Amino acid sequence: MRLENKVAIITGAASGMGASTAKLFATEGASVVVADLMKSEGGAVVAEIGAIGGEARFQLLDVTNEADWESVVAATIAAYGQIDILVNNAGVSGSNPDRLNIDTWDEQMNVNAKGVFLGMRAVIPAMQQAGRGSIVNISSISGFVGQNFVHMGYNAAKGAVRLATKAAAVQFANDGIRVNSVHPGVMPAMRTSQMTADPEVRRKMLSAIPMGREGRVEEVAYTNLFLASDESSYITGIEIPVDGGYLAM
Ligand SMILES: NC(=O)c1ccc[n+]([C@@H]2O[C@H](COP(=O)([O-])OP(=O)(O)OC[C@H]3O[C@@H](n4cnc5c(N)ncnc54)[C@H](O)[C@@H]3O)[C@@H](O)[C@H]2O)c1
Repeated sequence: MRLENKVAIITGAASGMGASTAKLFATEGASVVVADLMKSEGGAVVAEIGAIGGEARFQLLDVTNEADWESVVAATIAAYGQIDILVNNAGVSGSNPDRLNIDTWDEQMNVNAKGVFLGMRAVIPAMQQAGRGSIVNISSISGFVGQNFVHMGYNAAKGAVRLATKAAAVQFANDGIRVNSVHPGVMPAMRTSQMTADPEVRRKMLSAIPMGREGRVEEVAYTNLFLASDESSYITGIEIPVDGGYLAM
């Protein structure tokens, strides 16, 4: 198994790509902490993992809350004794039709950018002590280019994730910690999607993708798995688009 004896915290693991990543990691032998705001959906993911013989537990987490992060780290160490992997996946959509909305800017920076920083800040001391760790930050194609259907705050926050990833990779490489970012393209709509959940908007978005289809959540989960596992042991500070060729155009 590709993650045997490893412990992974996955944020936003109650839904979408986070849930898919949690299930895949558990199948590959990791003990998984499903960390999310949504308790019942997160509990359902834990139950699914248990049903296939995997190990997982739910932890309530608002990624913007420092005290929640401290609880997640303490509970993970208490339950499993170590933290090998953090997937900073939780996020909110920026596809608000009011493209100059100030609250959207603030929410994007708070959840999608600061939430990722707080996650790294919370786990790095334990990883330093262990002398190993892999952090996977979920950005987006929106961290590379501007788009018509998302608020610029989403692009700015995802761009921040992309570059904070490289800074952390450089700063903590000597501690044995690797930090990389994954950039999904057009995937199934997020729970919080507005414009990008509209079928007509999605049709336009798909027409810009060389592979001509949206991505599947497992396609991102498998990329996360590679970066989380020791298979990528000499890879840090990189960005992997999972986008059907969108950024190649
Ligand atoms: N769906 C897409 O098209 C797409 C494309 C590129 C990147 N992404 C990114 O991928 C990640 C996962 O998106 P998804 O499509 O699975 O979305 P989703 O809406 O299905 O899942 C997001 C999860 O994050 C959780 N969450 C939101 N705010 C939180 C908070 N403050 N604290 C803790 N948990 C919180 C939600 O409860 C939910 O479980 C996000 O970072 C998103 O920006 C999505």
